[in-house]
Amino acid sequence: MQGKFITFEGIEGSGKSTQVGRLGSKLKEENIPVVATREPGGTRIGEFIREITHNRGNVELTAVTEAYLMAASRAQLVREIIRPSLEEGKIVLCDRFIDSSLAYQGYGRNLGEEAIIELNKLALDAVFPDLTIFLDVPPKIGFARRNGTDKIDRLDLQQEDFYERTYEGYTRLAKENEKRFFVVDASFPIEIVSGKIWQRVQQLLKGGDL
Ligand code: TMP
Repeated sequence: MQGKFITFEGIEGSGKSTQVGRLGSKLKEENIPVVATREPGGTRIGEFIREITHNRGNVELTAVTEAYLMAASRAQLVREIIRPSLEEGKIVLCDRFIDSSLAYQGYGRNLGEEAIIELNKLALDAVFPDLTIFLDVPPKIGFARRNGTDKIDRLDLQQEDFYERTYEGYTRLAKENEKRFFVVDASFPIEIVSGKIWQRVQQLLKGGDL
């Protein structure tokens, strides 16, 4: 039996982690086997990589190095967690995946979509999301939310235009991949957002083998 792979995307402060948690709990309530993970990270090796990418002291990290580190974390996660769980018929929820690299490195860092796709081919090994939930919140609102927390990391310290390009990248990806992307206005209250997500996920599950 083949499971389903659902990814969550959005800029900082869009509420992804909260929504991954809520969908995970809902699926458990329904006795649907689910695994929740995140990028970069999600595996022991991936969490080491996350320490490098998030460390505020790593100011000399180049855009290309950053792109490879994200892909390296992904390669490990695909092989250690995502593919085995899908093969067991589970629903896999991932807080960020390939679209984060396309938006942040491809657009935010100006490396381009093509280069990021090419660089990730080996990492992905043909594992691709069935559904991508894009929590749509403009950078200004996202940042106001994020600044209310104490979790400021290296990627939170970039210039505003970087986030504007990243956000533009996401909206472009959503348009280019209309079938796979489910765009939710994340400025609504948490319960409204999770209600919309649950409706969409139910459709996916009805259409699949689960
Ligand atoms: P988060 O866990 O708070 O979402 O932080 C992850 C950060 O890493 C966020 O700033 C986006 C960034 N990131 C990339 O730049 N490229 C990627 O491929 C991934 C997965 C994350």
